Amino acid sequence: VNTTPPTGCASWPQLEALARAGAKIHLRDRFAMDPARGGRLQFEGAGVRLDLSLQRLDDAVLAALQRLASERGLEAWREALFAGERINSTENRAAWHTALRAGERAPSEVRATLERTCRIAARLRAGAWLGASGQPIERIVHLGTGGSDLGPRLACQALGQLNSNSPAIRFASNVDPDDLDRALAGAMPDRTLFVVVSKTFSTQETMANASAARRWLANAMPAGTDLSAHFIAITENLASAARFGVAETLPLWPWVGGRFSVWSAVGLALACAIGESGFRTLLSGAHEMDDHFLHAESERNLPILLALTGIWNTNFLGCATHAVLPYATRLGLLPAYLQQLEMESNGKRVDREGREVEYATAPVVWGAEGTAGQHSFHQLLHQGTQIVPADFIVVRDGPGDAEMRRILGAHATAQARALAFGLDDPSLPAWRQHPGNRPSCRLELDMLDARNLGRLLALYEHKVFVQGVIWNLNSFDQWGVELGKSLAAGILARPPGA
Ligand code: F6P
Repeated sequence: VNTTPPTGCASWPQLEALARAGAKIHLRDRFAMDPARGGRLQFEGAGVRLDLSLQRLDDAVLAALQRLASERGLEAWREALFAGERINSTENRAAWHTALRAGERAPSEVRATLERTCRIAARLRAGAWLGASGQPIERIVHLGTGGSDLGPRLACQALGQLNSNSPAIRFASNVDPDDLDRALAGAMPDRTLFVVVSKTFSTQETMANASAARRWLANAMPAGTDLSAHFIAITENLASAARFGVAETLPLWPWVGGRFSVWSAVGLALACAIGESGFRTLLSGAHEMDDHFLHAESERNLPILLALTGIWNTNFLGCATHAVLPYATRLGLLPAYLQQLEMESNGKRVDREGREVEYATAPVVWGAEGTAGQHSFHQLLHQGTQIVPADFIVVRDGPGDAEMRRILGAHATAQARALAFGLDDPSLPAWRQHPGNRPSCRLELDMLDARNLGRLLALYEHKVFVQGVIWNLNSFDQWGVELGKSLAAGILARPPGA
């Protein structure tokens, strides 16, 4: 596999030249010169539609980006990813999240753990999991942080209401006691189950929450009660979970990165929320996107196109941030989820060989659901001094009032057009002009169900992987989070007042 810097590729200076040549071409002119681009720059894969026509690129740029991907050895890297090779070099591990959703082709321990996860979820849904005093569980509190929190939290918010035959599910991730208090509001201790999700079983915030949960239970139950029926652990660290005292431990493996783990037993609370068939459908949607990524030709391959578009905006148009704008309330947590996925994976300044990079890597990812953002930060998107490429995520159909959906869709389209084409009306004062030429992608799903959510999240996972290959980064470690952890431990170890 190729671990040279991308700037050494023949296509890199070609892309720089294309960026210089196209700098003055407005998106209005691109459409005027080439009206067919609207149709030509539409792509579809695994049920997701991607529209690149409002990006500041053309066929020549796309071709050069494709050459860059091939010079970077993307095919060999992709094979290594799917084969479970140890591509996470600094931790000597694979990044084999695709195996978690490989169905019958998944490793036997993955299939066995999925069966167990679904059985436990079914027991909880049927009221057949009993607490220490023989009461059925009515509240599940998921304790975890980062990748052990964001995926299930996002998916429960996106899909939970589609199947409500489940104990109530709450999440607590912050070590701020208010977070746990909020998750426990109205809960009855003898009917509450804590799902402690921590790959390492040593993350301080999660362990502090788990200990506080144990104290909350102990205070409410007769002294000496065995509380283990109120805890399930999901972890790679089986010994620490056993010492903590849990009824069941569902395993993780070294090759499951936190931010890629929603497909594993980490999704237990989600499996409770949407049921076994919903959870399996999520996995199969992700697997469809894996197949698309693996087999679709590069020129029509959604993760590759999305990744290369991001490279173009970051490295050749100089955009430092990227907005994620889901036009779907149920995807309100997608920006937070993608912040971890993209910035923890590719927010790096040295490459796979430890060399300081001489090019930009991951942009700052941010965003919020539309239409709310239109009444706040979209001002900057339209008229600010920075160009912020955006992803509009649009859901075509769904339950609820059809007229409201029509309005929602119209706003997404209008925002993208206003960004792209702007407003140049000499009769208006300067502050009413919109410069336009601000690029966006449109990602469209038919509806927001488990299959499409699986497809969408896998699409972004592979986008991040492709960008890591282009930037010559190890996308699967996160050493940047360690220093703060050890400093906090040192501060906590000091005597009070020191
Ligand atoms: O601190 C960052 C991080 O390591 C993430 O990468 C991870 O998803 C999260 O913490 C939680 O880690 P764990 O599952 O080990 O508690």
